[in-house]
Amino acid sequence: MKKVFVKGIKGGTGTTSIVANLACALRKSNEHVLAIDLDPKSDLGLHFGLAWEHRDGWSHYPKLTDIIEQFHRDDDGVLFLPFGDQSSTQLPFQELISSCELLQDSADAWFLFDCPAHIDITEYSLTNKDIFLEVVNCDAINHSFIYKRLQKLNNIQSSWQHYFLVNRYNSASELEFDLLQLWQSEVPLLAPIFINKDEVIKESTAFRNVAINCAPYSVANDDFETLAGWLVSRVLYDE
Ligand SMILES: Nc1ncnc2c1ncn2[C@@H]1O[C@H](COP(=O)(O)OP(=O)(O)O)[C@@H](O)[C@H]1O
Ligand SMILES: [Mg+2]
Repeated sequence: MKKVFVKGIKGGTGTTSIVANLACALRKSNEHVLAIDLDPKSDLGLHFGLAWEHRDGWSHYPKLTDIIEQFHRDDDGVLFLPFGDQSSTQLPFQELISSCELLQDSADAWFLFDCPAHIDITEYSLTNKDIFLEVVNCDAINHSFIYKRLQKLNNIQSSWQHYFLVNRYNSASELEFDLLQLWQSEVPLLAPIFINKDEVIKESTAFRNVAINCAPYSVANDDFETLAGWLVSRVLYDE
């Protein structure tokens, strides 16, 4: 089982779009993928064809047996679990994360967690096999947040594999170009790949879908295939 936690360093960096597009890219490489929404905004399902009127989700239930019934399968075979519209959950996050191991066929599966920006990852008992992608955008605020996060990480025992993943990168912007160059030379945990800004991501969401299905020859689709390939190679390296 491979667990990938995706969380914005601040709100609105593109976390949910990444979880949905990455889930589909992994699925198209024949991986078994479960995407789990840990964000009370409960918008992950919108990328997988779920109607916005859908209100149910795991936050409504205290027991794993009931929660399992809330999984949906999208047209590509990705299993996804909506958060639902309860502001507080009956089952604590940590219990949901741990109980993933009890799910049938979980041994080879990828679990992708769409985490809200405000949660503190140190509260969850992650292992050295777990991958944590902290999503950043190329601007001055994110620059200061990255350095604050690095300071915090230096002061705790982080067992998980932590990476900063740049999203919505606009190479036409001089500032973004310069910042990315700086980060690539100085930020120790920067992921070796980044996701470009591409309108296809917004357009495919308008179709309640992901880039690979709406625009298979897009930059966005290339980026997510590269991200999926990098994650698969990371996991193989660990084994
Ligand atoms: N790489 C990208 N290129 C263009 N737009 C993007 C990209 N990633 C995300 N977006 C857009 O940014 C907005 C916020 O994305 P979302 O995934 O909801 O962020 P979060 O989950 O961090 O709040 C959405 O309108 C989404 O379509
Ligand atoms: Mg989100």
